[in-house]
Amino acid sequence: MPSTNSSSTRAQNAAREEVLSQLKEDHKKVKKAYKQFEKLDVNEDPQECEALVQQVLDDLTLHAALEEEFLYPAVKDLIAEPDLIEEAEIEHESMHTAIDQLRGMSAGDEKYAARFTVLCEYVLHHVKEEEGEMFPQLARVKLDWEAISQEMAQRRSEARGEGPGAQMQGAETDEAAMGSDDAEPSRGKGSRAGR
Ligand SMILES: [Fe+2]
Ligand SMILES: [Fe+2]
Repeated sequence: MPSTNSSSTRAQNAAREEVLSQLKEDHKKVKKAYKQFEKLDVNEDPQECEALVQQVLDDLTLHAALEEEFLYPAVKDLIAEPDLIEEAEIEHESMHTAIDQLRGMSAGDEKYAARFTVLCEYVLHHVKEEEGEMFPQLARVKLDWEAISQEMAQRRSEARGEGPGAQMQGAETDEAAMGSDDAEPSRGKGSRAGR
């Protein structure tokens, strides 16, 4: 259901809270993964380290895209301190550079753990500014939060392979499986059909 100008203030407030609380959840997830990483030894558990790092890099990439594409541009001209958005955008640039460097590395590489540690510390500093300064100011920003919330939700589900396209492909595969394989039609119901 597309949102309209007649959407109630309450609905917009709820949508804004939803947007911000999901972003905060992402922040928490990174913090948690970083703590977990600190308990690991990159020489003893290289695979576990790499899996953890990979997950964080993927999560950060999606999170950054959501903020860069939907949040920052929408609030930039409306927030009390637009500098906060500009600074955040520049911090994201540095973060992307660090992410790209780590993507080309493996646990055996020199300074792998150090690079990941520096990235996490950097992100946590950025997160502190978002949650401490930027997000509170957004409480007073009036815009179509419902639309932003919907766009972000759609992007998140696409990233998880649950977009409308993936669902349709899944449905087609189900039909094909039902039609061509009468032995065990239920086995065609793979959620990975879109891959
Ligand atoms: Fe950010
Ligand atoms: Fe963030």
